[in-house]
Amino acid sequence: MTVSFWLNGTPVTAEAPPTRTLLDWLRETRGLRGTKEGCNEGDCGACTVMVTDAAGARALNACILFLPQLQGKAVRTVEGVAGADGSLHPVQEAMIARHGSQCGFCTPGFIVSMAVGHLHGRTDHDDVVAGNLCRCTGYAPIVRAAEDAANQPIPDWMRADAALVEDAPEAGGSAPFAPKTADELADWYLDHPEATLIAGATDVGLWVTKQFRDLGEVAFLNRCEDLTTIEERDGALRIGAAVNMSDVWQAMKGPYPSYAEMIRRYGSDQVRNAATIGGNIANGSPIGDNPPALIALGATLHLRRGDDRRDLPIEEFFLDYGKQDRQPGEFVEAVTVPLGAEPLRSYKISKRFDQDISAVCGCFNVRVEDGRVAEARIAFGGMAGVPKRAANAEAALQGADWTEATVAQAARLLAEDFTPLSDMRASAGYRLESAQGLLMRYFHEMSGRPVSVLEVAP
Ligand SMILES: Cc1cc2nc3c(=O)[nH]c(=O)nc-3n(C[C@H](O)[C@H](O)[C@H](O)COP(=O)(O)OP(=O)(O)OC[C@H]3O[C@@H](n4cnc5c(N)ncnc54)[C@H](O)[C@@H]3O)c2cc1C
Ligand code: FES
Ligand code: FES
Repeated sequence: MTVSFWLNGTPVTAEAPPTRTLLDWLRETRGLRGTKEGCNEGDCGACTVMVTDAAGARALNACILFLPQLQGKAVRTVEGVAGADGSLHPVQEAMIARHGSQCGFCTPGFIVSMAVGHLHGRTDHDDVVAGNLCRCTGYAPIVRAAEDAANQPIPDWMRADAALVEDAPEAGGSAPFAPKTADELADWYLDHPEATLIAGATDVGLWVTKQFRDLGEVAFLNRCEDLTTIEERDGALRIGAAVNMSDVWQAMKGPYPSYAEMIRRYGSDQVRNAATIGGNIANGSPIGDNPPALIALGATLHLRRGDDRRDLPIEEFFLDYGKQDRQPGEFVEAVTVPLGAEPLRSYKISKRFDQDISAVCGCFNVRVEDGRVAEARIAFGGMAGVPKRAANAEAALQGADWTEATVAQAARLLAEDFTPLSDMRASAGYRLESAQGLLMRYFHEMSGRPVSVLEVAP
């Protein structure tokens, strides 16, 4: 397989199998060992690189980024963050001045994340570095360095990649299948139903780096432009399957701030910049964060097989643990999210505030008219083998007075709705009590009482 892209401002061509990661290629083939291997699963940010395409520059984890995902793009590693004449980037100067590095293993990853944040004029420094793990320095000096650098000008070389990708080379003849439209994908996938679709690779990447799986035939969805659009029509947002979670975050800030706040805690910048909403739905994980919110909102899933399309309420897609309502050759094309459900609230419970998978994710959308419940949609992740509605709790609320007593009764019924598992993230008892607590929290929040737990945030 041949892939062409820009590396620190120079055109390069990589000859490698389609599931070769950028991290391995940089270190083993190019000798660029500033990009570190820490976890090799997207969690620590030691391998952070800047990738620029027509949509702009973003931080990504090179350890779960396959080379074909880079076709025509520009990659900047930590070696390219300093100028060609050796002059340091303002974030590098500030890290030195603020003593932001001790053992130094994490430092290249931090530098790249901070340089991308600096390029975009971001001041939410905690979020910018939430995907970078430092086990010795502590975050205060690093955040102080980011604050200092924020007032410094952007070096010219950091802007140069945007112009390079306007003149992107085409993929070589032996490149893996990377359709440019959903139509192309639909035709091909009908004939290759056994192939693995790769969108952001934040799940699939780990099948390779952790499970050492041979994926066989693969198709990369990241060039399918019509799968990456968000359109507002008929009082709803239609979100293409390949829209990444950073863009979903932005789209949800206006209509659903609570959902957006949950997405702020979905992985990290590096993960959200790669992970797609379609991948998060299609993988059928019981602890994916989008499905409970989408179920509570009454979203519609759009599936496509060849020219045949079908729509279904998203909760019907999740049949059982590891089993979804998807035929061979069928893929997720989009999801439609109704607008105007003001009562929606999304609560994520995880061991760490940032960059952690949910132990329980509860999403609530209860419409109350004249003191009575007109419609209740309650969905949880982490409480069953699939993301699932709380049918008994919803039934108890439907038509009932919206009072603490009826909500407490509905909360008790969650024990009949779910038989959660105990695992490394939480015990069954913890999950059930948390879910019940979240329903009560929702009642209090909707009653205007203070429920914020952000005082435990960093
Ligand atoms: C460090 C880290 C942190 C994470 N944190 C979170 C978190 O906080 N919350 C959370 O919910 N998840 C989290 N995840 C999981 C992961 O990011 C999500 O599930 C992600 O949205 C998957 O999307 P993707 O585009 O990367 O999917 P991929 O890895 O590309 O694909 C996942 C699966 O979906 C299939 N697929 C992809 N697109 C389609 C499509 N259009 N149609 C049919 N099948 C398709 C693939 O074949 C594969 O089976 C995290 C992952 C990592 C590595
Ligand atoms: S090595 Fe840890 S995120 Fe890549
Ligand atoms: S300086 Fe040692 S891990 Fe951050």
